[in-house]
Amino acid sequence: MMLRQEPSLTSFAALQWLAEMGADEVVGDVPGLVGWKASPPKVIPLGRPTGLREPPAPPLTRSVSKLPSFQQPPSPLSPPPLPRVALVTAHTIDELREQIAAFEGCALKVTAMNFVFADGDPTSPLMFIGEAPGEEEDRQGKPFVGASGQLFDRMLTAAGIARKDVYITNTLFWRPPGNRTPTDAEIAACLPFVERHIALVKPKILILLGGVAAKTLLRVSEGITRIHGKWTSYTPLSEGAAPIPCLPFYHPSYLLRQTSAKRQAWKDLLTLKQRMKEEGIFPAAQTPHS
Ligand code: URA
Repeated sequence: MMLRQEPSLTSFAALQWLAEMGADEVVGDVPGLVGWKASPPKVIPLGRPTGLREPPAPPLTRSVSKLPSFQQPPSPLSPPPLPRVALVTAHTIDELREQIAAFEGCALKVTAMNFVFADGDPTSPLMFIGEAPGEEEDRQGKPFVGASGQLFDRMLTAAGIARKDVYITNTLFWRPPGNRTPTDAEIAACLPFVERHIALVKPKILILLGGVAAKTLLRVSEGITRIHGKWTSYTPLSEGAAPIPCLPFYHPSYLLRQTSAKRQAWKDLLTLKQRMKEEGIFPAAQTPHS
């Protein structure tokens, strides 16, 4: 993506802002910017260091002081620095939706058409978390309604699970331009909301669709090809919350490209079904393939 560089946008903060917008090339004739060599973008580490727990009150907030701050004071003409971290205070899913909709700390919001929150039954025992909205999701403001969403629906149906009976959301709430991979900074900006989302829904089983969701929430470095279909657990941040059984899945959009992986994806679905049966989730009579 090319953006024409305005002379006023010369501070480091402005360059960083442009980089986060996806600008990777300088056009125009601003001396000092042509040939400017960017140092590697600062990323907010996603790992949750041992002992980094929330302060006692309010619950599920993150400390601003733990995050990198801009080094240079912005010039009066620079865009204001974006808030880097969300103070998540929502106590209900509706409050959470409103809080994210009002959040200005993720640069993706600027380029997206719509905010994409969640779909399905928030009281469902099954919560699925994907990566980020694509083009169709951005257009409709609803997750998993494009081609990969249709495959997702077919997979659920084949396993005897109705989409309306599950809850589905994403790791990011705005579409990355051109469906590019989200940056660590964009993921980190949305993460406190996603974690709060899980804590509020309290699913019996959490299914992470694809590498971005799995790596982000499980804080693992292994790729999805290694960890899909293997049970692990996710512990919500709320005080005293019990670990939630968690199963990483291949992302449906990967399955659209790599049809040979569908066989393994089906095995993973059967692994999920088995656990659902053991936990008494959705009576077997409701599920033709149980
Ligand atoms: N891919 C995702 O991860 N989420 C969507 O909502 C759509 C496509």
